[in-house]
Amino acid sequence: MTTTPAVRAYARTLAPERLPAYLYDLGALREHAAAVRAALPERVELYYAAKANPETEILTALAPYVDGYEVASGGELAHVARAVPGRPLAFGGPGKTPEEIRAALASGVGRFHVESAHELAVLADLAARARVRARVLLRFNLAVPGELLDGSALAMGGRPAPFGIDPADADAVVRTLTEGSSPWLELFGIHAHLASGLDARRQLAVAASVTRWAAALTARHGVPLREVNVGGGMAVDYARPGERFDWAAYGRGLAALADEHPDTVLRIEPGRALTVYCGWYATDVLDVKRSRGEDFAVVRGGTHHLRTPATKGHDQPCAVLPADDWPHPWPRPATGGPGPVTLVGQLCTPKDLLARAVPLTAPLRAGDRVLFALAGAYAWNISHHDFLMHPRPGFHFLPGDPASAPADARATAVPATALSRRPAADRANI
Ligand SMILES: Cc1ncc(COP(=O)(O)O)c(C=O)c1O
Repeated sequence: MTTTPAVRAYARTLAPERLPAYLYDLGALREHAAAVRAALPERVELYYAAKANPETEILTALAPYVDGYEVASGGELAHVARAVPGRPLAFGGPGKTPEEIRAALASGVGRFHVESAHELAVLADLAARARVRARVLLRFNLAVPGELLDGSALAMGGRPAPFGIDPADADAVVRTLTEGSSPWLELFGIHAHLASGLDARRQLAVAASVTRWAAALTARHGVPLREVNVGGGMAVDYARPGERFDWAAYGRGLAALADEHPDTVLRIEPGRALTVYCGWYATDVLDVKRSRGEDFAVVRGGTHHLRTPATKGHDQPCAVLPADDWPHPWPRPATGGPGPVTLVGQLCTPKDLLARAVPLTAPLRAGDRVLFALAGAYAWNISHHDFLMHPRPGFHFLPGDPASAPADARATAVPATALSRRPAADRANI
């Protein structure tokens, strides 16, 4: 399924001047997040990696299902703290500046994911000066067995990388926390986000390997292992948009791992696999042409709004909504037959490719709508919006039925607050 009924119906109501637009189905998001939460054992904490999609409405809709949020910059920290006040935050990411660390200490961030020995020294000094206790998870770039990261779409560890601390330095770094020289820092545990795009089997094997390594490290130093954060990176299959990460198998595996480590809280922090399915980039066809034997359709907008297919090199899954109305006096261009057609945007670059050789069941015409699916994560927020100065898309949040949030939700949803980062001209909570 690449669309939901709510999204199809709403997309038909938007006049062409209001396209392109991001449509978010918050009902679908809540349903998905509830299913993910239900598949995980009670003892496993679920944080949402806000970098995947930090829209206020998204953060708010997720609030009943997550235990906290992972933020990776001072900007994300300030924004998420405003959007979902009072919720636990973990501050990760490389290259934290002293100013960001000071702000994090002042705002009472729950966990610091420390990326290097230098960052630990800066945090120790600033925490002491502020007289604020900081709970630390040391992030390590761990080696994991054999082929585990081979299927990864984006490996960030298990090989030379700027992320996390080298395991060879682990004992020295742990000693700086246990020998008494950093009294304002508390070693709470270990963090490792090694790759994105792993299936449940690989994720579980990585989680087990990280947790066992962390348990051995803390045991060597005679300190408790209170927490292990095994990161995010649950696979999303853009080629088969109906497929989902096997949360049930992952939850069962994490339950067994948690049983092996009864005194340790396990935590995960997915981004993409939580929000990707709730967003669509809706647009319409502006022009259709044939070039050297192939059909192309130029749609309003492009990869400056939806960079995901350009950055990942895939074809963004999409659905066509035929529009029978053609109000113009000039002829309506259309493909000669039912397909395939390559969908491109309005940018003057051959890289502005949204989907190649899309099979069609009917000719595609100017004015037809196209809904690009799996646009709820790493889409608008990673795009180069200002290239060529085309207008920005609208943002529409379809509410679903907020009352349908299950009774076992972990926290009360907080009301949506306005996000003033962009002109609110075409921003609607429907
Ligand atoms: C430290 C960390 N945690 C979590 C995530 C979320 O990864 P994903 O969106 O693939 O689940 C990322 C992504 O880069 C990350 O760097």
